[in-house]
This record gives sequence, structure tokens and C-alpha cells, in this order.
Amino acid sequence: MCGIVGYIGYREAYPIVLKGLKRLEYRGYDSAGVAIYDGKNIQLSKTKGKVVDLENKINQKQAPKGTLGIGHTRWATHGIPNDINSHPHYSNSGDLVIIHNGIIENYTSIKKELVKRGYVFHSDTDTEVLVNLIEDVIKNENVKLGKAVQIALNQVVGAYAIVVFDKKKPDEIVVAKLGSPLAIGIGEGEFFVASDASPFIEYTTNAIYLKDEEMAIIRRQKGVKVRKIKDDSIVVPYIQELKLNLEQIEKGGFDHFMLKEIYEQPNVIKDTYRGRLLANEGIIRLGGLEDYIQKFLNADRIIIVACGTSWHAGLVAEYIFEDLARIPVEVEYASEFRYRNPVITEKDVVLAISQSGETADTLAAIKLAKSKGAFVYGICNVVGSTISRETDSGTYTHAGPEIGVASTKAFTTQITVLTLIALKLANLKGTISSRDYMNYLRELEVIPQRIETALKANEHIKDVAKVFKNSKNFLYLGRGYNFPVALEGALKLKEISYIHAEGYPAAEMKHGPIALIDEQMPVVVIAVNSNHYDKVVSNIQEIKSRKGIIIAVVTQGDTTVKAMADYIIEVPYTSESLTPLVTTIPLQLLAYHIAVMLNRNVDQPRNLAKSVTVE
Ligand code: M6R
Repeated sequence: MCGIVGYIGYREAYPIVLKGLKRLEYRGYDSAGVAIYDGKNIQLSKTKGKVVDLENKINQKQAPKGTLGIGHTRWATHGIPNDINSHPHYSNSGDLVIIHNGIIENYTSIKKELVKRGYVFHSDTDTEVLVNLIEDVIKNENVKLGKAVQIALNQVVGAYAIVVFDKKKPDEIVVAKLGSPLAIGIGEGEFFVASDASPFIEYTTNAIYLKDEEMAIIRRQKGVKVRKIKDDSIVVPYIQELKLNLEQIEKGGFDHFMLKEIYEQPNVIKDTYRGRLLANEGIIRLGGLEDYIQKFLNADRIIIVACGTSWHAGLVAEYIFEDLARIPVEVEYASEFRYRNPVITEKDVVLAISQSGETADTLAAIKLAKSKGAFVYGICNVVGSTISRETDSGTYTHAGPEIGVASTKAFTTQITVLTLIALKLANLKGTISSRDYMNYLRELEVIPQRIETALKANEHIKDVAKVFKNSKNFLYLGRGYNFPVALEGALKLKEISYIHAEGYPAAEMKHGPIALIDEQMPVVVIAVNSNHYDKVVSNIQEIKSRKGIIIAVVTQGDTTVKAMADYIIEVPYTSESLTPLVTTIPLQLLAYHIAVMLNRNVDQPRNLAKSVTVE
């Protein structure tokens, strides 16, 4: 949930750490701090606020000098966001400095013990407890930092990625991971650590992704030694060559990452199906699926676990799998599933969907499903992420880095992968005709063009946004395949504009929400071509009769809804099952423009973080 960066080498650490924090700020942004060490003095600065506030604070003094440095950008868990709770944290002696991403669940009992032994705490954080626990081990067991970290972490319950150094050891940093991501960049005579590879991509493309329960001692001259936290055994790390490039993590002329990512959708969807969809040959080939296809074909049901936008993609999948492949599907909030004592058997296939591949609840749901013998398949975007490693097999979405906290391209690429899987199964099972199968394949192949067309409505959507930017509430309605899109449209508006919005299946209106309708209430209705079109038209009439304002997303050329709606936004025609891929686009743009007009921080909305690695 927080972003952590570290550097040890021959360059000045501060500029590297600061730039790294800016790239990781999507992970949390309520406070930030750095500690830079020149071998004699540690210069520690931290503040409530964003990385730019930290930079301004430091600019008033002198930039810290030193070739060892660590930095942190925080999403608060224990202790409100303020200067004192910000990381890094010193140990009581002032020798150890730590940054931490995660939660130490048993910190209260450890703190009590440490207080009894005379330790004093300045912050409300669990992190300060951990650094003092490490210090206590060094003192009592007469061991060095690496060993002390290992002993201390064996007493800890929770999740962490930590970076810690000792003033007495100017050539060494120690890192460890359980549940929160940590990558080590291997340069020539220099090493980087970070929550993801973006802070060091211009320096090296060689990286080690630490696995859970692993730690590493990184020495300036001697390199990296990886060990298991549990038993101290040596691990031979796998050095991965990164495919990421700098352009992918920069804004590329757009005002915000979110807008860039909305506009990337045509291209990234091509990346998602490249080499996997051979429309003319009638072939769908998904590496991770081929060996396990029988698991899906023999499954009693598919259970989808996910959170947030990924959960909405799961809901779309429920329609596609049931409609086309005739496989029963249940879609579960991972956070509920993990604690519900669900009935799961070996004949279930569990599909976990996650952009980051790090969401704590989704990860816990996977572990539960595996423990009950289910086959678990992952759909993740971030390559090498924890979920992608914990699942039995899976498919990457290949959307590229998604930096905006509001998920956009992750959603449409997830739907693309899910559609490919459903179509493959439907074809094998014979639940759709070969003619329909071929038509779907060809249509899926031109979806990027359809999205290009949908994006052309941008200026018009901006005008609509102007009209409604001061509305206090919004309703989003859809039916069938577009019910989840209504939920997703409402979520996008809420999270980046802070306007209250609710998504509903259009027909549920009469069962309560219709009471909300008056002349102040904008209702966004997805009314594209579908089996339910006439029913949606009736729902629109019901709203109009109660003076609600209709903003309708319609198929190009529509005349019926056009005559009734106050505002229309057109999207190109596509097969009903694929409509979510195009109807989502105007809803993303509408939320984006309203948020910009309200001066919201679009890429870093308040209270949120990109990946929720705590429960
Ligand atoms: O990385 P994940 O897909 O597992 O994340 C799940 C949710 O936290 C995420 O989709 C969240 O709801 C987004 N902010 C929505 O835009």
C-alpha cells in the first residue's frame, strides 16, 4: 500500500530516491520521507503530504548527500498521516533506520514488551515497533543487522516489505518481504530496491523479485545474498530481464495518467490478444490455459474472486461464460469469500482477477480455494506479481503499467482475456455454432477500432461533463452485459470526483431507487443494442415521467432513445456480448472530465491507493 525505494552504490542517492518516490506515489500519498547516509551522518526528512511537499521542504535546506538512501511514500494504516508517523523511522539508539510497506498485526504485544525493556516510542506506527525489535535483537543476541532482521521477522505476524540499514554498517542495506512486493535492481556496482521496478528502470533491466518469506542482504561491493527468513537457508535468486521501458511509465503528453491510459485501450487490447487470437484461422491460443483446458471443461462451476474494478470485470465474465459457454459462474468479493467458509470442491475452478496481482483479499481467497483443492487460474496485469505466482496457471492481460489509481485499461483488457477464455470453451463444448464463433472472433479483433471511434466523442463528453459537474448524485443504469458497466461507471465517478454515484440494474429501479429521481438527478443509462433494448427504453420512460435527466449511451444511429434522452453519447455497434468493451469508454471519460473540472487529483484521489495490499 505504500511505496518504498532504496539505493546503495556510487551515485548521489537523494535524486534517485526522490524520482523513485514520484513514480511510486500511486501506491500511497499521504506522507513521504527519505533518509540519506554519507557514511557519517544520516539526514532524515519527512512530512505529511505528497512527495512534492517533501521536495519543497528539503529545498529550503540543502539536498542531502550520500550514496546510500531510502525513501517512502505512505498510505496510512497505523497512525494518522502526520510528520511523526511518516517513514523512515529511527530505532531508539538512532543507529537503525527503516521503511516499511504492510502491517505488523501483533505490534501491540511486541510494543508492550519493548516498553517494559525501556524503549520509547514517538509515533503510533507498527513500523517503529519493528525497527526497535530489530535493535533489541542486535543488543541481546549480539548479532549483526541481517541476522537480527531474520530473528525479529520470525516473531512478527502480518505483511511487510522492509528496507533497513544500520549506521554502523555504511555499505549494507537489508530488505525482506512477506505479502508486499519488493524488487531488487542489479546494476554495476550499485543496487536499487523498490516496490516495483519503475524507480530503477533507466539504470538497470536486471531485477530479482523477492518471494514471500525471503530477505536479502545487499552490500555495496559484494552484491546480493538472498536467504529464507524462516530458517536462514541460502536461496539462489532468479535474475529477471525486465521488459518495461521509460516511456510506458511517463505521461506521454497527456495531462494525467488516467487519460493516457484511457487512450491506450485500443493498443493494449491488441497487445492482450496478440498471438493469442487468430481470427481468420478460428484459433484462440492462451499459453496458460492449454494444459488445463480439461479442468475448465470438467468444472462444476467457475468461481470468480476479485475486488473493485476487477470484480466488475468478473461480473461481465459471468454473463459471457454462462451465455456462451454454458458454465455456471459465481462472482465473489474476495474480501467476503475469504471469511465466509464457502463450499469449494476439487471440481471448482477459481478465477482470480487482479490488475496489480497484489490485492491482499484476492490473494487470501486464492489461498483458501487452493487449500480446498480447487484449481486456481489467475488473470493479472503485473508480470511476476504475487497472485500470478500463487495461482496454478493464468493469463497476463499485457495492459502495461497502469499508474492512475482509477483502473481503466486494466478493466477492458481483463474483459478481453475473459472473453477469449469463454469463446475457446464455448467452441470446444459446442455451445455456440462455428458461425457464431467465427463472427465473435472477427468482431473481437476489430474492437480496438470500435474503441477508437468511441474515443472520438471525447469533446462532446466534456460538454456533458460541464453541465453536470456540480451535481451531487448520479445514478448509473444498465441491464445484462451492461449492468456491470453501470457499476463500473459509478465507481469511476465516485473515486475520482467524490460525487456520490450508484450503479443499478435498470429494472431494479422500481424496487426502491426510483424514489431518488427528481429534476436534479442525472441518470446515466446504457441503452445500446441488446436483447433488453426495449426494456431499457421502458426504464428510461419511467425516469422521464418522474422528471429525471437522462444521459444515454446509445449505439450509433439510434433514434428511439435519442428522442427521449436529454443528452446522448454514441458508441459504435458491436455484438451484444462485447458491448462492455465500448460502453465503458464514455463512462471513463465522463468521470475523468468531471473530476478535472472539479480540480480533483485525478491520478491520486484522496484516501485511495493503487494496490490494496492490506485487508
Ligand atoms: O489490483 P486489483 O485489480 O486487484 O485491484 C482491485 C481494486 O482495488 C481496484 O480495482 C480498485 O477498485 C480501483 N481503484 C478501481 O478503479
